[in-house]
Amino acid sequence: MTALLELTDLGFAWPGQPELLDIPHFQLAPGETLFLKGPSGSGKTTLLGLLGGVQTPGRGRVRLLGEDLGSLSAGARDRFRVEHTGYIFQQFNLLPFLSVRENVELPCRFSRLRRTRASQRHGGVARAAEALLTHLGLPEGMLERRADSLSIGQQQRVAAARALIGQPELVIADEPTSALDADTREAFLRLLFAECREAGASLLFVSHDRSLAGLFDRDLSLSDLNRASQPMER
Ligand SMILES: Nc1ncnc2c1ncn2[C@@H]1O[C@H](COP(=O)(O)OP(=O)(O)O)[C@@H](O)[C@H]1O
Ligand SMILES: [Mg+2]
Repeated sequence: MTALLELTDLGFAWPGQPELLDIPHFQLAPGETLFLKGPSGSGKTTLLGLLGGVQTPGRGRVRLLGEDLGSLSAGARDRFRVEHTGYIFQQFNLLPFLSVRENVELPCRFSRLRRTRASQRHGGVARAAEALLTHLGLPEGMLERRADSLSIGQQQRVAAARALIGQPELVIADEPTSALDADTREAFLRLLFAECREAGASLLFVSHDRSLAGLFDRDLSLSDLNRASQPMER
């Protein structure tokens, strides 16, 4: 099977710092859920930025859906990212002054493909937003509320719905459960899995919380992939 995502000989260093990532090879299969763990500061968020094409690697190649991200212009890479990846940020990064619905609909403003898919599946972008939020367990009647009036757990559901709308092939989640208690965490993950499965999306989930690992198809440590020595071990 062709990989959804493939890294080859990837190297990355932040300016003025020693090499943080040196990853000979890594791949993620279509529909696979992967738990990637590593201590704080080990480069997890940096790696996710490289996968999404937010950062560019110093060397090596990131291929998503067969496309070499490094061969695209910055603008084309941004478009490709919004079309094919949904990103759940650690701090959720909702736009506080927009409503819940507007936040979830955002990717569909920037991507025609996601707009089309959302409409096909749910009969409209607004209805897609509503359906996702319901599936993810957001209480009814919150669609038109400002995002910054929500609790952390509710914001997390909005962030997940925004990542999932329009069925991107890859969903990337950067420690989105760190602010939740254990029961809520697992319940949220199960909902996230169900949505990814229904959309056929792969899920790359990063966390330092090992207790969640057993729920995923595959469980990896960043240190198993990364040959660069870690700052904390020096
Ligand atoms: N924007 C940045 N500029 C410079 N250094 C950074 C930046 N982001 C992260 N780093 C450095 O890269 C290392 C890994 O950080 P990060 O990828 O955030 O790790 P993790 O997500 O595993 O906690 C840290 O030493 C951090 O200081
Ligand atoms: Mg991080």
